[in-house]
Amino acid sequence: MTFTENILQWYRVHGRDLPWRGTHDPYRIWLSEVILQQTRIAQGMDYWLRFVERWPTVHDLACASEDEVLRQWQGLGYYSRARNLHQAAQQVDALGHFPDTLQGLRALKGVGDYTAAAIASMAFGIDAAVVDGNVYRVLARHYGIDTPINTTQGKRLFTELAQSLLPTGHAAEFNQGMMDFGAIQCTPQSPRCDACPLADTCDALHTHRVDQLPVKQGKTAIKTRRLQYIYIRCKGQTAIHRRPAGDIWQGLWEPLLIEEQPLPHFEGKMTLLRQGVKHVLTHRILLADFWLLETDQRPPLPQDYLWVNEQDLDNYALPRLVEKLVTNVPSPQPSKGGANKLKKTN
Ligand code: ADE
Repeated sequence: MTFTENILQWYRVHGRDLPWRGTHDPYRIWLSEVILQQTRIAQGMDYWLRFVERWPTVHDLACASEDEVLRQWQGLGYYSRARNLHQAAQQVDALGHFPDTLQGLRALKGVGDYTAAAIASMAFGIDAAVVDGNVYRVLARHYGIDTPINTTQGKRLFTELAQSLLPTGHAAEFNQGMMDFGAIQCTPQSPRCDACPLADTCDALHTHRVDQLPVKQGKTAIKTRRLQYIYIRCKGQTAIHRRPAGDIWQGLWEPLLIEEQPLPHFEGKMTLLRQGVKHVLTHRILLADFWLLETDQRPPLPQDYLWVNEQDLDNYALPRLVEKLVTNVPSPQPSKGGANKLKKTN
């Protein structure tokens, strides 16, 4: 199956059921796209519903006062969007019909390449590819493109690629499929590479660059990532899990990892063994804290964690940093009974 067929098929199964997807009304589609430019779908949906209820046609919106439109927009932020929306509604109203070409749409206040392509494809069936943040990410990863997306060259390259992949006569499905795929499957953080229909052909996955693509110019500063490991000791056992695809150390094992600060509360004795251990990777600096949690009660853990005997840790491939930290976990106190020594000494 080609890339395009995969996206279309994925969209048929997983595409989101959004209220404006059942219409070809350019006004309603335009309104949804303007609202969604800087707003998440869950929040945007309420606003969209209230807008179309209050102003069911572009003529109704054109007749409203700017103040009313701004008040209806309240809470969404980026108020220039609302002012442009109102002015563009008056442009359309004066024109007597909604523009139905890319060029005509681009002439509306606040309508750029993205919004013009979105309306053209979804309302008028024009074969125009949209390129939003989701599309950049999906294409950069799948085709392994490291041209910065925020450059003239990058914009042209990605737009041409998206356009070349677009199936004639199915622009609306393809465009929305790409956006949904980026929003649901090929997400910025923790993408679902292990259950991805495009995994076989994804360049970034095979070259371990999923977390490095897309590239943005001026964002090359190496990021620091804080890892908080908790080595749980419970009745001679410890909990580990396998790192997922699409991130550093894919397939290796590690103790309980918590990246959010601060740590949640755990029952038992928490001892900070090491703090701020630095580990340099090609595109990341890792700073790791390492805790020992001694407890008689297994804490609740995500499903993918596995309890193993401490002395069996040798059988699992650990990242070097983790191995270094685990090696230095003190042996259990003999007084607690049934001491399990950690054999590792190297
Ligand atoms: N984000 C903005 N517009 C969208 C659309 N039409 N489908 C999916 N995601 C979107």
